[in-house]
Amino acid sequence: MGEMLLPRGALACIVGARPNYMKMAPLVRAFAARKDLPSSVLVHTGQHYDVAMNEMLFAGLELPRPHLNLEVGSGSHAQQTAEIMRRFEPVIDELAPSCVIVVGDVNSTLACSLVASKKRTPVVHVEAGLRSFDRDMPEEINRILTDQIADLLFTTEHAGEENLLHEGIAPERIRFVGNVMIDTLMRHRQRAVPPHQTLARAGIAGNFIHDLAGYGVVTLHRPSNVDEAGPLRDALSILRDVAERLPLIWPVHPRARRNIERLGLLPSLANTRIALLAPQGYLEMLGLLANARLVLTDSGGIQEETTSLAVPCLTLRSNTERPITVEEGTNTLVGLDRARILDCVENILETGGKRGRMPELWDGCAGERVAEHLAGWLARRSHLSRELALA
Ligand code: UD1
Repeated sequence: MGEMLLPRGALACIVGARPNYMKMAPLVRAFAARKDLPSSVLVHTGQHYDVAMNEMLFAGLELPRPHLNLEVGSGSHAQQTAEIMRRFEPVIDELAPSCVIVVGDVNSTLACSLVASKKRTPVVHVEAGLRSFDRDMPEEINRILTDQIADLLFTTEHAGEENLLHEGIAPERIRFVGNVMIDTLMRHRQRAVPPHQTLARAGIAGNFIHDLAGYGVVTLHRPSNVDEAGPLRDALSILRDVAERLPLIWPVHPRARRNIERLGLLPSLANTRIALLAPQGYLEMLGLLANARLVLTDSGGIQEETTSLAVPCLTLRSNTERPITVEEGTNTLVGLDRARILDCVENILETGGKRGRMPELWDGCAGERVAEHLAGWLARRSHLSRELALA
């Protein structure tokens, strides 16, 4: 840490896991565009570290290389959270940032917020207030706790604000700004990689591509779906049924791949119309999603991206922390209910499914709104602390 030549008083922007990068990219860009904000220092906790989960994403997103990488790697929740905290504390001491900016709900989000708040460094949470009301999800714990200790909370949909008020967060700490992840989607939409190119690069057999009059995209990585044999077997068997109707392209998350291999389930996917791919870069994934007939997922972000792309999304969960994607967007919650999923697939193939509409302020400018509010907020704070010092 000794030789670190980074500006003191910067905005410390934290990323750790894949879904953080597409949220942080527009923020870093919007902060840099304002003269009334300090410079940003990008800190990567190293929660995700594989090239496919990491470097490939950074390149596609035009996100600058992190100034620091804490290289914490994988571990149990306690180990990972503790290790991030241990390694982030000296960074705060050295940097004395004017605030710490965290996004989303991963372990890195909570760990860095905790360290900052105990050091009385302001915490700014972007994508605050989302609630699944399901404490079996590790992310739900991260969301609730991060929001309790954050000083400034930016929300993507009105439900977020209601949840925060309900949990006793003062309204003046909350701002509805829209969705930074959709900023990224809109910015890169035209550069998306065509699906046939992604499949060719992955060496997927010619006849699969040939059949590709229409295809579905699958992503699965929630512990509740992939960590145990029962749900994982069910999910794979449902996907096999869906693939009888529509070829499926599945970029497999490392957590899911590890469990499929551990449980000896890989052979059950042979000779099906399910193409397994390695995790993809952002522009590749965007191309796959944008051109799909439908998407089957348990991801949070993809529920929002499909709403923005007007592609029907079947979410293999019983709840969502992003209710607007169901109410206004293209999302339907289907759990692992085989009959319901097959019905929905049939309906989408016949009618095109839900088209939805774009939620309020998902307009590509959320990052700028965050930057503007933040600049005003920091200015008021420093004014206040000067007055206190004079008093
Ligand atoms: C994390 C987030 C989750 C987010 C997901 C997106 C938490 C609690 N979970 O889940 O909210 O939706 O990222 O990907 O923060 N692994 C690798 N390579 C990597 C990273 C992980 O192989 O670069 C494997 C390891 O076996 C590791 C496992 O994936 O043990 C789980 O990684 P972890 O970071 O603990 O959680 P994710 O499941 O990726």
